[in-house]
Amino acid sequence: MSGNTSQFKVGDKTVDMAIKEGSVGPAVIDIAKLYAQTGMFTYDPGFTSTASCESQITYIDGDAGVLLYRGYPIEQLAEHGDFLETCYLLLYGELPTAAQKADFDYRITRHTMVHEQMARFFQGFRRDAHPMAVMVGSIGAMSAFYHDSTDISDPHQRMIASMRMVAKVPTLAAMAYKYSVGQPFVYPLNSLDYTSNFLRMCFAVPAEEYKVNPVLSRALDRIFILHADHEQNASTSTVRLAGSSGANPFACIAAGTACLWGPAHGGANEAALKMLEEIGTVENIPKYIAKAKDKNDPFRLMGFGHRVYKNYDPRAKIMQKTTHEVLNELGIKDDPLLDVAIELERIALHDEYFIEKKLYPNIDFYSGITLKAMGFPTSMFTVLFAVARTVGWIAQWKEMIEDPSQKIGRPRQLYTGSPQRDYTPIGRR
Ligand code: SDX
Repeated sequence: MSGNTSQFKVGDKTVDMAIKEGSVGPAVIDIAKLYAQTGMFTYDPGFTSTASCESQITYIDGDAGVLLYRGYPIEQLAEHGDFLETCYLLLYGELPTAAQKADFDYRITRHTMVHEQMARFFQGFRRDAHPMAVMVGSIGAMSAFYHDSTDISDPHQRMIASMRMVAKVPTLAAMAYKYSVGQPFVYPLNSLDYTSNFLRMCFAVPAEEYKVNPVLSRALDRIFILHADHEQNASTSTVRLAGSSGANPFACIAAGTACLWGPAHGGANEAALKMLEEIGTVENIPKYIAKAKDKNDPFRLMGFGHRVYKNYDPRAKIMQKTTHEVLNELGIKDDPLLDVAIELERIALHDEYFIEKKLYPNIDFYSGITLKAMGFPTSMFTVLFAVARTVGWIAQWKEMIEDPSQKIGRPRQLYTGSPQRDYTPIGRR
């Protein structure tokens, strides 16, 4: 590399590629002209060394275990702020003043109701449908109800669509839960804060007054902060790619929700709790550690490992503290799943295999225990992840749409299929 360029020797050609520096973190080599100058593509199927975009929203230092939202450490935001403050920060780039925060809370609160016909839309699902299937369907269906905020070229419509999704996705999530347990939907209550409102929509029943537990509401609000955004993860990259074609924002967030569902991604919180239940006791842990290390066994420790974090996921530390807070508040003294989780973490962190591969607990390892204790069924864990990540997806979508250099994402490939050949009539095959 010389100066701000990097030289590639490709065959008899030497190609200069510009190097672009970020404000922090790795620089990038701009390879946009590589194909035109060499006739060759780069090849990086899992994007392990590929930056897909320039962004100013979230920064992760995987080796140091650092996560910043618009430059602010996740630990400080989780400690001092609330989820809607984090939403404002991610969407607009700065922490709100008291007046800005009050206005933002007011606007979000007054967008929490959904079109009454969406309740009928739910009737089309089986009661035992996975709530994530309902979320993918109902978020996508929002573009069938909110036509007046689907023109992505109109900044006002983009803002309304963003408000609507941050405000309405929790309502749809609560409806998905109520529908799965056969209880009536509960309307939002404007006198409650965002997360208390969500808890009430999930757990209130017409037969009695619902009293929000402030400790649980604060804990869930903090969990939402931890899950709000995470740079160019799989679901965010899905949202950006969908948005690059000009698809409406509701369709893009539905695509991101579908991607999040996978067990390697947001579905890991559900899978991690099921894994802890399958392990069952501390005595069974060595057997499962051996399975995780066995190359011939597809079993993986769910809630462990991360593409970027090669140190402890900073969110997992806060998650673990929140787990203890919630279990104490609920008077759950000895949760066998927590005992298994703590012992599993202790063993794994001292095991050569996990040390060598830098596998640490990630955000999904402890979240399931906490959410289960709060009364959510396992099938709702990824839905809660989607509720929180909606703001991150929207902030990243908004940044992409407002980037003047934005163009449709269209990767190429390494083709290893059949070279051209002629059609043979069926009688001669
Ligand atoms: C999230 O990207 C994000 O930011 C995501 C997320 C977000 O906020 O958006 O942080 C949320 O998705 C967290 C991750 C949740 N997923 C899980 O907990 C599922 C279990 N973890 C793994 O599937 C895995 O660690 C991934 C998918 C998270 C990361 O996979 P990578 O980076 O592609 O790593 P890899 O699969 O290439 O694994 C590297 C090595 C392999 O061994 P070798 O082939 O080198 O011998 O580590 C091993 C893997 O077999 N390995 C594990 C393991 N994870 C990786 N072995 C046992 N248990 C595990 N959990």
